[in-house]
Amino acid sequence: MSNPKMRTAILISGRGSNMTAILEAARNKDYPAEIALVLANNADAKGLETAAAEGIATAVVDHRPFKGDREAFDAEIQSVLEANGIELVVLAGFMRILTPGFVDKWRDRMLNIHPSLLPSFKGLHTHQRAIDTGCRLAGCTVHFVRADMDSGPIITQAAVPVLDDDDEDSLSARILVMEHKVYPRAVALVAGGRTRVEGMRVIIAQTDEDSQSPSRFLFH
Ligand code: GAR
Repeated sequence: MSNPKMRTAILISGRGSNMTAILEAARNKDYPAEIALVLANNADAKGLETAAAEGIATAVVDHRPFKGDREAFDAEIQSVLEANGIELVVLAGFMRILTPGFVDKWRDRMLNIHPSLLPSFKGLHTHQRAIDTGCRLAGCTVHFVRADMDSGPIITQAAVPVLDDDDEDSLSARILVMEHKVYPRAVALVAGGRTRVEGMRVIIAQTDEDSQSPSRFLFH
C-alpha cells in the first residue's frame, strides 16, 4: 500500500521548539504528515540534534558559502528537498528570506509561523513592538508563504493577552506555548487536504470535531 502521509520537510535555523512540537504530533498514527527531513541553514542549530535523536533524516545547507547568492542557496535547498521526495515544506524559525522563484515552486505547499497577529508586526522584534504599541492582544500566525515576507494567506492564529508587566521574554514565552499548539494543527490541516486557498483567504473543510474546538484559531 502506498504511504498516504504527506512527506514533509521542516526547515529550521536554531532552537527548533516548533519543530519538536510538530514531531510530537506526527507520532500519532493518524497524523497526515510524515516528517521525512529536517533541514537547517546552520550546522549548530540545536533542533538538528533533537531531530536526529528522534531518528529523523537531517541535512545542513549552510548559507554562508553562497556569499549572498540567494538563488544558488535556494537551488541547493530545492535539490535536497527533491532528493528526499518532499511534498510539503514547513518553515519553523527558518531565518532566511527565500527567493520568489523558490517560493513560487512551493506555492500553497509551504507554511511559515510568525510570532505576531499578522498583518500586524511583520519582520523582527514582534513582541517588543506589540508591547510598545500598547496592544492588549498579541499572538502568532501560521500562513502560506508568498514572496513578500510574512504576507501569505492565513491558515490559523492564536491570541494571548498582553499584560501590564510584560516584557519581551514573558510575552514571547506566552506566545510560544500557543505556537506549539497551533503549528501542528495547521500542518495537519494542510497535509490532510482540508485547506483551500481563495485569494488571501484559506477555507478550511470543517469536521464534526471542529464544532467543539475550531481549528482556525485559539485563545490563551
Ligand atoms: C518562533 O517564535 C517563531 O515564531 C519565530 O522564531 C521562533 C523560532 O523558535 N519565527 C520568526 O520570527 C519568523 N519570522 P523555535 O526555533 O523554537 O521554533
